[in-house]
Amino acid sequence: MPVLGVVGVQWGDEGKGKIIDLLASGADYVVRFAGGNNAGHTVVSGTDRFVLHLVPSGALHERTMNVIGNGVVVDPEHLASEIQSLENRGVSIRKRLLVSARAHLIFPFHRELDAMAERWKGAGRLGTTGRGIGPTYSDKAARTGLRVGDLLDRDHLTSRLRAAITEKNAILEKVYGHRGVDAEAAIEAAWHAGQTLAPLVCDTGALLRKAASTGRTILLEGAQGAMLDLDHGTYPYVTSSSTCSGGFAPGTGLPPRALQRLIGVAKSYSSRVGEGPFLTEQINEIGELIRVRGREYGSTTGRPRRCGWFDAVSVRYACALSGVDEIFLTSLDVLGGFERVFVATAYEFYGRRLEEFPAHLPTLDGLKPIYEEFPGWPDVLRNCKTFGQFPEGARRYVERLEQAVGVPVTKISVGPERNEIVDRVRAGTQ
Ligand code: IMP
Repeated sequence: MPVLGVVGVQWGDEGKGKIIDLLASGADYVVRFAGGNNAGHTVVSGTDRFVLHLVPSGALHERTMNVIGNGVVVDPEHLASEIQSLENRGVSIRKRLLVSARAHLIFPFHRELDAMAERWKGAGRLGTTGRGIGPTYSDKAARTGLRVGDLLDRDHLTSRLRAAITEKNAILEKVYGHRGVDAEAAIEAAWHAGQTLAPLVCDTGALLRKAASTGRTILLEGAQGAMLDLDHGTYPYVTSSSTCSGGFAPGTGLPPRALQRLIGVAKSYSSRVGEGPFLTEQINEIGELIRVRGREYGSTTGRPRRCGWFDAVSVRYACALSGVDEIFLTSLDVLGGFERVFVATAYEFYGRRLEEFPAHLPTLDGLKPIYEEFPGWPDVLRNCKTFGQFPEGARRYVERLEQAVGVPVTKISVGPERNEIVDRVRAGTQ
């Protein structure tokens, strides 16, 4: 199984960090292929809790090489400080991290443009993480961006970055009335961060192709989730990258046919950070209870996450888009103790039943979820070691989810700790 992928099939925050950390013990490489430090992947080891934003989630495994692929947008100052804070906590990541020379760079003006664009939109804002993700991917597509390789030559960096800042400052000042960013300070900070990153920079695509052809195990780490995909998500309320499995080939330099197995990570309920449609959202005491029990606050921005019931229509769509082979279901413990739980298995559109997630946003306005109701179960899942030990209500819930989504659930996470995971297949369902 040399190339394995892990992607989120909801709106991000499905618990991918824990799953990748779990699988990384058997991987030679863990590779991020999209997004940037808008992601926040939480990995727990004993009493230590790490929130990784740019560093891949294989960070805690001594024999795993972590790779930031070319599809990732890299804030060099952030990455340098994330590396330093891991080193300060005893994680020697510096010798186990590589960064693509082709990855595009996030600079302070990207963050300012992100913030200004959000302010300009007013009530129509997207609720971005403010990390400069959209403006950086825009520059990449406009062919005006700078890449990690550009950090390595001081004169080259200075002239390219100064030219970019002159243009962006004109936009910041003339469109948004912003004072612009200090060019010399930005160049100095980028050069300084680049010096820290320089030993890690290489052609990661060539390295990964060689690794794949010699049978090394590569784990592709998706960021965000399918419903935030630039093409297939709830546009325009999406992020600016391809979050589905298809993003891995352009984002790593591996050929599309390299992928041999794909795991979709789904949370047992739904959450979303930022604006945009969310049909099963519960703006009531149920949503509040899920938020509190699931500690649903953004790991990047600290914002409270919007919470609601599991939406099998969107997860079915997401699994089909990515070609998911199996689902790892997370946070099932959070639903323990509810009197009743609900799953949306279809939508209603002015009296008509819809089984497919609609392609065009305005049609979501008249949509309502059609729920199936399940009796709850006692809050005992963290004590269960096998699926067979789960209360009947929890088993029925999982079985209905996989039937509604059409993909088998093979592992179920019942708590934040590494070992709080139940292997559905091997531990038996009887
Ligand atoms: P951006 O990626 O910062 O441009 O934000 C675009 C949208 O994606 C916003 O709704 C964000 O809240 C959301 N988003 C971006 N990254 C994540 C993530 O890692 N988890 C959940 N939501 C995210």
